[in-house]
Amino acid sequence: TLSKGINGLDKILLRESRGSSAEVYLYGGHVTSWKNDHAEELLFLSSKSIFKPPKAIRGGIPLCFPQFSNLGPLESHGFARNRIWTIEDDPPPFPTNNLSKAFVDLILKPSEEDLKIWNHSFEYRLRVALGPGGDLMLTSRIRNTNSDGKPFSFTFAYHTYLSVSDISEVRVEGLETLDYLDNLQNRERFTEQGDALTFESEVDKIYLSTPTKIAIIDHEKKRTFVLRKDGLPDAVVWNPWDKKAKSMADFGDDEYKYMLCVEAANIEKAITLKPGEEWKGRLELSAVPSSYCSGQ
Ligand code: BG6
Repeated sequence: TLSKGINGLDKILLRESRGSSAEVYLYGGHVTSWKNDHAEELLFLSSKSIFKPPKAIRGGIPLCFPQFSNLGPLESHGFARNRIWTIEDDPPPFPTNNLSKAFVDLILKPSEEDLKIWNHSFEYRLRVALGPGGDLMLTSRIRNTNSDGKPFSFTFAYHTYLSVSDISEVRVEGLETLDYLDNLQNRERFTEQGDALTFESEVDKIYLSTPTKIAIIDHEKKRTFVLRKDGLPDAVVWNPWDKKAKSMADFGDDEYKYMLCVEAANIEKAITLKPGEEWKGRLELSAVPSSYCSGQ
């Protein structure tokens, strides 16, 4: 169902029969809320988020396309996250998510203005779906519709902001021993140690060639997020910590304690599409109670 959200922006509410729900703004094709069947919010959304174009919504799941971060000539994280998307009633069939009844299909195509800053014609189809168990599933399909025969290349991320009870109680499993580029050290390449990641200062790393499954364990909440991804080899881990938090106008000074971004991404090797070709990248998130013995 379509309704008006903050500042009159259009949003869609998805509700699954057992009670889980998600909210998607047409502004950015942006998931701003994902709740389990106890109505507990699982995504972080900043109380200072501006909800006004052209500033992207701070929190939820911004879509970074066609450029991750400032790794190219475009604005940070590209422009998909601050354009108004449209609902697509009858998209070409999606191969996945057939079991879900709670879903919405959105599409973004470049405007004349967009073509001036990135001269490529594309169709970006996004399906947001809730699985029967309340899993949140995002499928992106990006097609090159250039008529001039030109290929294009892009980088991409699902910039997922997870809600956590206390960042100092969080552990991430699945990225240990991997190589990463450290955004805080000129994107130099390092290798992660053998232990699960924990957090005690600013972190901004691009892990390379990561497994399809990453677990984010919130000890205090006794909750584990399981992130599964397909077509997205890299994973960004970001927490601004106190100093950077203070420098961001749309982020509360203390909010870094209650969030962690773990972003399924394709950054190191840009994706190149020839005209007519389509790329697909999928993110699946589930939130499960942590079992007492997990990882002990
Ligand atoms: C992360 C980047 O993905 O996004 C960080 O790795 C960046 O470097 C962060 O600071 C937030 O970006 P933005 O443009 O939403 O403020």
